[in-house]
Amino acid sequence: MTRTRCDRTPAWAQLQAAYQASGKDFDLRDAFAADPQRFAQFSQAAPLVFADLSKNRIDTATQELLFQLARETGLLAHRDAMFAGEVINTTEQREVWHTLLRAPADATTASAHEAQALAQVHGTLDAMLAFAESVRADGAITDIVNIGIGGSDLGPQMAVLALDAFAGTGKRLHFVSNVDGHELASTLAHLKASSTLFLVASKTFTTIETMTNAQSAKRWFATQGGSDIARHFAALTTNVAAANDFGITTTFGFWDWVGGRYSLWSAIGLPLAIAIGADGFREFLAGAHAMDQHFRSAPLEENLPVRLGLLDVWYRNFHGFTSRSIAPYHSALRRLPAYLQQLEMESNGKRVDASGAALPFGTSPVLWGESGTNGQHAYFQMLHQGTDVVPVEFVAVKKARHTLGAHHPLLLANVLAQAQALMVGKADAGGHKHFPGNRPSTFLLLDDLTPASLGALIALQEHRVFVSGALWGINSFDQWGVELGKVLAKDIAPRLDSGDTTGLDGSTAGLLGMLRD
Ligand code: F6P
Repeated sequence: MTRTRCDRTPAWAQLQAAYQASGKDFDLRDAFAADPQRFAQFSQAAPLVFADLSKNRIDTATQELLFQLARETGLLAHRDAMFAGEVINTTEQREVWHTLLRAPADATTASAHEAQALAQVHGTLDAMLAFAESVRADGAITDIVNIGIGGSDLGPQMAVLALDAFAGTGKRLHFVSNVDGHELASTLAHLKASSTLFLVASKTFTTIETMTNAQSAKRWFATQGGSDIARHFAALTTNVAAANDFGITTTFGFWDWVGGRYSLWSAIGLPLAIAIGADGFREFLAGAHAMDQHFRSAPLEENLPVRLGLLDVWYRNFHGFTSRSIAPYHSALRRLPAYLQQLEMESNGKRVDASGAALPFGTSPVLWGESGTNGQHAYFQMLHQGTDVVPVEFVAVKKARHTLGAHHPLLLANVLAQAQALMVGKADAGGHKHFPGNRPSTFLLLDDLTPASLGALIALQEHRVFVSGALWGINSFDQWGVELGKVLAKDIAPRLDSGDTTGLDGSTAGLLGMLRD
């Protein structure tokens, strides 16, 4: 498989020239005035998600060059390698096969290895969903506590909140991730051992935060008179042996080819399956699969993840924009920004390419955001009038699932107004009331927020991250950058007891002393 890093292609130099010639002075208002078809031309329908890209600083010539860039880097071959289960996570020698988790049981497979993996996926999925249904039907269990962090927390938490309208069991779901004992203690304070189910979610079953919380939960369970661990604890992990050693016998496994931040579709999705039921979870997988098929087969020019990923590269490497703000105009999507932070920044926050060579250009932008309209009353001031240009990604949902008449039209009016205001601006000679405008945004629109449309939206985001990572020539599927802090914390923890500061830098030693006083 040949990959060519984006900056080593002929298209890269052409894009640099295009940026100098017209890109840097591109004005969205002029572009709309010159082209009445701009909305249609820069819109893209994909399964369950519609995207308006027209308020972005891009013209057809640049877009064509970006498609050429994609071809010259070998994006399509890299994409196909992922779907085929090739070892594209080269620093960990692993396949990257989360797409297989949402493939139907009768999907056509290209190899015996894939057929075997797909059969295992569906065996585990069936068992996991049967368990979810049994928990839903179990009147004695009122509270489910997911103990996990990173990908073993952010995905299920975001999705459970997002699909709250589909949760009909009355069960309360709690998420404990932080090693900060305040989080677990305040959760346990409201629970009874006899009515609580703990899900210990950890791909590796070694993560210190999760293991510490799980140990404390187990101790609490015993002190509360609980004894039936098999009924009150389940583990979601690739490391079933470690879960057994911990004393948990109810386990749902997955595979090392599922990255933590891509694991919501595996047994890690059990909290969501309990919340929305087996049928709902299957719809969630089907929505993601529809987006997989789109990414896999739509021509570049009509391929939404490709168009988004190329725009990300154009903004990061040519316009020099260093961040992107996520603005979901639906309160149920309020954890989406946190979820996307891990997805994109852990995947593409890399400074070397797949061969280990330092990159001469920027990679992952900073992702941040809040649900609308809350963000409008906090940081949108900076988006409209600050010195930096921050592309905004709005997410709106046409249909409301409440019956409070006036709210939804007002919410939709606000999201349209913000996107419009960023672009059109407002001239005012006085300065303070001047809005420069020409500030770009993308508008993602769902008809309805359902298990299927959420699945499609998340898969879309996974694939757009794949596209920019592929062009940058990096390995988007490892996360070595989180290791150093873990090692140092292990070294520091006993020093908080002993007071030993040997070998520490002056600041760490000083702070350690203060924390021991
Ligand atoms: O933060 C690093 C990381 O490895 C993430 O990639 C992962 O989602 C998280 O830790 C949790 O890991 P685990 O599921 O193995 O406990």
